[in-house]
Amino acid sequence: MQKDIKSYHDEVNKFEAKNVNDVELFRIKFFSKKGIFSLLFEKFKTLPNNEKKIIGKAINDLKVEAKNKIDYFKTKFKDLNFSGEELDLSRNIISNSIGSRHPISIVKNQIVEIFNRIGFVISEGPEIEDDWHNFSALNLPEEHPARDMQDTFFIKNPETLLRTHTSSVQVRFMENNTPPIRTISPGRVYRNEAISSRAHCIFHQIEGLYVDQNVSFADLKQVLLYFAKEMFGEDSKIRLRPSYFPFTEPSAEVDVYWGLKNDDDYKITKGTGWLEIMGCGMVDPAVLKNCGIDPDVYSGYAFGMGVERIAMLKYGVTDLRMFFENDVRFLKQFSSAL
Ligand code: PHE
Repeated sequence: MQKDIKSYHDEVNKFEAKNVNDVELFRIKFFSKKGIFSLLFEKFKTLPNNEKKIIGKAINDLKVEAKNKIDYFKTKFKDLNFSGEELDLSRNIISNSIGSRHPISIVKNQIVEIFNRIGFVISEGPEIEDDWHNFSALNLPEEHPARDMQDTFFIKNPETLLRTHTSSVQVRFMENNTPPIRTISPGRVYRNEAISSRAHCIFHQIEGLYVDQNVSFADLKQVLLYFAKEMFGEDSKIRLRPSYFPFTEPSAEVDVYWGLKNDDDYKITKGTGWLEIMGCGMVDPAVLKNCGIDPDVYSGYAFGMGVERIAMLKYGVTDLRMFFENDVRFLKQFSSAL
């Protein structure tokens, strides 16, 4: 047995580790359950008492040496990785790629920024609304047929609902501020719609409101043209088609000229070259009155657009549901400083 111990002793002395892995293999060889020391102690138990003293000491000495060797190399490799290279401590711990903003946020921020530049301030309000702010104050009394235009998710009773548009925020803003008012209200809205490639029960809107003395329809048109140029390019053209909203009079639908350059253009513009992007109009005097603003002194305009629709146009996305599925392969295609 002494011979064995001697040869292990030589092995320990000669041992040189190139990397942490070598140290670990060495440790396993000597110190694991089925390692050399377990084996030696098994044999040690069977020795006659007179030999135990010398052999026991030899085993213990070997153990101390092996342990020192391990400690020495462990310290040496502390700042090195498994392959023996120096660690780059400035490297990221997790090598995941950084995320990008959601396309809806990018487009929303862009729209908000365009209006910020001409003095519109952001206003926000609750997604769970009451009947007054979502409907009644906006000229939509309970039995008004226009309520059918927006199938609503009611909560508990017909008094509490998920807002169907962010016009509710404009009502709150008018109630709490005095003209001149220039505000833009981005937010999530809900409608009880069948989900398809063109419609969803959740989507995002941005509505604008301007109330002051002598605000005219020409002011509205000018601001819409400015927006179209900033959003879709300097050459943008817009047209306004008469429409109906209970809270504006007169009301219009805004189209932007998209062109008919290829088959897709024919498809999305239904062969006209024009694309509808939002609704707008002069705030109905009754709405101003409901919100505590004197319609004999003040007038105003309002407009509202769907962020998904603008994002679909901007990025050529043909199915609106993609924005809600959060498939990383879809999302990582978008990046922006905004
Ligand atoms: N609130 C309208 C909607 O949800 C949009 C709109 C806002 C229309 C302001 C006119 C004026 O469809």
